[in-house]
Amino acid sequence: MSDNKKREGFGSKFGIIAAAAGSAVGLGNIYRFPCELGNNGGGAFLLVYLLIVLCLGVPVMLSELVIGRRTQKTTVGAFRTLKPKSGWPLVGYLGVFCAFIIMAFYSTVSGWTLEYIVKAIGNDFQGKDLEAIQQEFTLFHESGWRNIIWQAVFVFLTGFVIFKGVANGIEKYSKVLMPLLLLILIVLAVKSLTLPDSSKGLVFLFKPDFSKITGKVLISALGQVFFSLSMGMGVLITYGSYTPKDNNLASTALSVTLSDTLVAVLAGVVIFPAAFSFGVQPNEGMGLVFSTLPMIFNQMAGGYFFCIIFFILLAVAALTSTISLLEVVVAYLVEELKLSRRWATVWAALGCMAVGAFASYSLQTGSPFHIGKLSFFDCLDFVSAKIMLPIGAFFIVIFLGWIMGKTTFFDEITNEGKLKLSVKGVIFFIIKYLAPLAIAVIFISGFLS
Ligand code: TRP
Repeated sequence: MSDNKKREGFGSKFGIIAAAAGSAVGLGNIYRFPCELGNNGGGAFLLVYLLIVLCLGVPVMLSELVIGRRTQKTTVGAFRTLKPKSGWPLVGYLGVFCAFIIMAFYSTVSGWTLEYIVKAIGNDFQGKDLEAIQQEFTLFHESGWRNIIWQAVFVFLTGFVIFKGVANGIEKYSKVLMPLLLLILIVLAVKSLTLPDSSKGLVFLFKPDFSKITGKVLISALGQVFFSLSMGMGVLITYGSYTPKDNNLASTALSVTLSDTLVAVLAGVVIFPAAFSFGVQPNEGMGLVFSTLPMIFNQMAGGYFFCIIFFILLAVAALTSTISLLEVVVAYLVEELKLSRRWATVWAALGCMAVGAFASYSLQTGSPFHIGKLSFFDCLDFVSAKIMLPIGAFFIVIFLGWIMGKTTFFDEITNEGKLKLSVKGVIFFIIKYLAPLAIAVIFISGFLS
C-alpha cells in the first residue's frame, strides 16, 4: 500500500477495544475453554490459566500492538520494516500460516453455531432429555456434508464482512453485540447456579487440585491463553497498525485482556454447574457445550427465546473472531502480494473452505483423515494452539525486548511522552526476560510430559 494513501483505521477508542475484544472473545472462550478445562483437571487448569493471563496477557498483547502501530504494517511487513534483510519476517509468515490453519478448524465449529440457530428456531430441543440431545449432536457433527455446508456459509459471511472494509465492518458489529453477549452469559450463569447439585460444578471449576498440574496442563493452559487472547500470530499486530497514534495502547491491552478473561470464567460458571447437575461428563470435549447449553434452556422460563438469541450471539462472537483471522491472511495478500482487496478476500476464503472441509469431514467416524489417533481437526487445533502460537509469541517478545528495544517501546506506549505510565519499566522487564523464559520452560515441559 502506498504511504500517501491513508490507511484504513478504527474510528474511536471504544471501536478499537470492541474490535480487539471481538477478535479475542469467541468460541475460544465459550467452547474451547470449557473443553480444555474439563480435560485438564478443572480448578488446577483455571489457576494456571489465570496466572499466565496475569503475567503474560498484557505484556505479550502490548508487544504485538506496539509492533503494529509503530510500523503501520501488518505481520510480515512489520518485521520487514523494522529489521530488513533478516530472518524476522519468517515470524510474520508463520503468523499468516497459523491464521489460515486456525481458520480452517475454527470455521467448522462456527458452522455448528448456525445449525444450532436453526435448531433453536425450530424448537428442536424442547422436552428432550440429555441422551437425546447428546445423540443429536453426535449425529450432526459426524454428518460430514452438513458440517461442510455450514462451514462454507460461515466462511462466506466472514469474507463478506471483510470485504466491506475494516472500520465499518468489524467495528460496527462488535460494538453493540459483544456487550449483549456478556449480558446473556450473566443471565445463564444465574440460572445454572440455581440448578440442583450445581455446587459440584463450582468445586470442580474453582478448587485446584495441585497434584493435577502437569506439563500437559501447563502447555494446554498456555496455548489456551494465547488462543483466547488472539495472541502469538499477528492478529494484534495487524489491529495495532489500524490503531490511531493517540490511543493508549496499555489501557487497550488491559481492557481486552480483562474482558476476554471475564467471558471465559463466566462461560465456565455457566457450563460446569449445569453439566454436573445434568450428569454431563466434564471431559466430554465438544459435546460439553453443545449438550449442556440446550439442557439449560430447556429448564428456563423463556428458554426458547434465550436459546435463539444465545446461539445468534455465539455465531456473532465467532464471526468477529474469524474476521480477525481471515483479515490477517487478506491483509498479507493485499500488502505483500499486491492483490486487490476483493481478490485477496476471495482467494483467502476459498482456501479456508477447502482446508476446512477436510477438518470437518475428519470428524466423521471412520474418516481416513486421521494422523495417529487424532483427527485432522484435532491436529490443526493442537499444532496451532500448542505449538505455533507459543513459538510465535516467543519470537514476538524476543523481537520487542531485544531488537526493538526499550526506547522505542517506551516512546510508543507513552505516545511519545504524552502519557504517564509508571509500570512501563516492569512491563518491559517482563517482555524482555520473563515472558520468553516462561514460554520456553512451559513449552519444553509440555513436550517432556
Ligand atoms: N481468540 C479467538 C477466540 O477465543 C480466536 C482467535 C481469533 C484467535 N483470532 C485469533 C486465536 C488469533 C489465535 C490467534 O475465539
